[in-house]
Amino acid sequence: MAGLILAIETSCDDTCAAVLDGPRILANTISSQAAAHARFGGVVPEVASRHHLDLAVPVVEDALAEADATLDDVEAVAVTVGPGLIGALLVGVSTAKALAAPRRLPLVPVDHLQGHVAANFLEPDPLEPPFLCLVASGGHTLLAAVRDHRGHEVLGQTLDDAAGEAFDKVARMLGLGYPGGPAIERLAAEGDSDAFQLPVAMSRDPGLDFSFSGLKTALAYLCRDLGVEGVEERRADLAASFQAAAIGQLTAKLDRALRSGEWNAVALGGGVAANGPLREATAAICEKHGVRLKLVALELCTDNAAMIGSAARFAEWRDYPEYLDYDAFPTN
Ligand code: KG4
Ligand code: ZN
Repeated sequence: MAGLILAIETSCDDTCAAVLDGPRILANTISSQAAAHARFGGVVPEVASRHHLDLAVPVVEDALAEADATLDDVEAVAVTVGPGLIGALLVGVSTAKALAAPRRLPLVPVDHLQGHVAANFLEPDPLEPPFLCLVASGGHTLLAAVRDHRGHEVLGQTLDDAAGEAFDKVARMLGLGYPGGPAIERLAAEGDSDAFQLPVAMSRDPGLDFSFSGLKTALAYLCRDLGVEGVEERRADLAASFQAAAIGQLTAKLDRALRSGEWNAVALGGGVAANGPLREATAAICEKHGVRLKLVALELCTDNAAMIGSAARFAEWRDYPEYLDYDAFPTN
C-alpha cells in the first residue's frame, strides 16, 4: 500500500486520527474525552490539551493498525491547524510535524470548517460541488457555498453563540449532562414543542446570519420564573420548545438561502446535524425546493480526522522543511 494520507484532528475535545486512500476511509479513529469534561459541564481547554498529549500517538497507532498500514505507506500528513482551542490544536500540529519531518513527508495544514465541508467528498457516495452546506457544531454555525473541492464561501454565520453551544448551555440549565445536544433531543421527544413560545431569532433579518444567545437568555429567564420545581416539572416541554426554536432558525436560514434557486444540493454537517428532528426539518425544506439532501454518516458529522484527510486531498501540500515553523491559529 502506498500513497495514503494520515490525518490528525485535535481542535476541541476529541483526539482523532484517520487513514485515507483517496476518498476511501481505511480507518477513522476517535477517542472522545467527553467523559473527562462531563463533570465540568463543558470542555475545559487545559484538560483537553493534556488528554490530547496522552492520546495523540496511541490514536495514530490505532488508526494505522486498523488500516493495516505503516508510516511507510503514508504519502502526506494532514492536520487541523484551526480554528479551535489553541493548546489542543498545538498538540495535533506538533504530532503531525514530528511524524512528517523525519520522513521528509509533506504536511497539509487544514482548516477545521473546510474539514466539515469535505466530509461530503468521502466515499460512499461522494457529493460533487456545487452545493450549499449547513455546518452546525459546538463551536460554529455557518451556511457555506461550496463551489469547488478546495474551499467554501461563508454566506452567513452566527453572530454570537454556536447552535451546539446553545444546546449545551440549555442542557446545563435543565440539569442534563454534557454534551447537551443528545440529552436535549432525548428529553424533547417526551415534551410539547408548543408549550413555550420562544423567539426564532433573526427570522426577520434579511441576511443569512444566525444568533443563538437571545434564545439561550430567553430560556434562562423562563427557568428563573418557573423556579427549581417548575423547571423540574416542565423539563421535557422546555427542551422541546428550545429545540424547536433552534431548529426553526437553522431551517429558516436554509430556506432563505435556497430561494435564490442557485442550488441543487444541500449538505448538513457538524455535531448538531446528528439531531433527528433537524434532519427531518431539513429534509422537508429540501423537498419543498426540489433539491437533493446529502446526510453523511453520524460519525462523519461530529469531529473526526477522515474529514480532515478529505480536505487535505484538495488543499495545498507543504514540503519539508517549509512547514517546520508553521503554527496553529485559534480563531478564523
Ligand atoms: O462537530 P462537533 O462534534 O464538535 C465541534 O466542532 O464543536 O459538535 C459537537 C456539538 C455539541 O455542542 C453537541 O451538544 C452537539 O454538537 N450535538 C447535538 C447532537 N449531538 C451532538 N446537538 C443537537 N442534537 C444532537 N443529537
Ligand atoms: Zn467541528
